[in-house]
Amino acid sequence: MKETQAVIERITRLNEYYQRLHLAVEDFITEIKPGHSFLARMLPERWDPYLREHWWPVAVSPNSIVIERPGSIRYEPGQIVSLIGLVGEPFRYKRTLRNVLLVAYDTAPTPLVMSIPALIGNGISVTLVLAGEAAQYPTSHLPPEAEVLHADTELNWPNRVMTVGWADQIFVAVKADDELGHFAHVWKIFRELRAEIPKTYLFGVFQPIQPCGVGACHACMIPLRGSEPCLICTDGPAVDLTTVKLD
Ligand code: FES
Repeated sequence: MKETQAVIERITRLNEYYQRLHLAVEDFITEIKPGHSFLARMLPERWDPYLREHWWPVAVSPNSIVIERPGSIRYEPGQIVSLIGLVGEPFRYKRTLRNVLLVAYDTAPTPLVMSIPALIGNGISVTLVLAGEAAQYPTSHLPPEAEVLHADTELNWPNRVMTVGWADQIFVAVKADDELGHFAHVWKIFRELRAEIPKTYLFGVFQPIQPCGVGACHACMIPLRGSEPCLICTDGPAVDLTTVKLD
């Protein structure tokens, strides 16, 4: 875990809801993998009652990191940002992976986006389901090989049973207001679609508030079945939902 400074080189708009910050930065470039994130604060630092923001990288080039942010926040080229990272562990994919289902349920798919080109580049099929509020996310910038489906607020989409049966692993992001409650709802839906949910099949991608990012404050603790709770900042963000105490 280290802190570094990055400069916003340019800003690109995806639509009115999403923008991308292209950060010139020297650190982290070779280490970032899908699942990693940062704790960020704009500089120069002034007294600020709020915690650092949780920023998700969506792409990396030899000299820059691309971060996706809500379109409603104003940024300017030349602004400097302090980044603490890398937070979290990379997503744990199965070795025999052929098909992956990514689901953004009433939230931005941003934590899942970096994995799409990485998986496709390894010959793995990717389907991205945008449900409810996630429909605001534009998709024209995504690799054309990725299949994009739209679902309603109850996670219904065409050929749902087939898509779920075909997936070797599923990664789901939900709205942050009540993650355990939303994941419990997701679990119930998938339990109705499959007789059994095996281990390392259905992962929740958690995005709790993270004051420290290093396992010191325990604010990001998630209850597990039959074992000690886990900390999302050090063990997450993706947690196998078969291990999470959802009820
Ligand atoms: S954010 Fe402090 S322990 Fe995870």
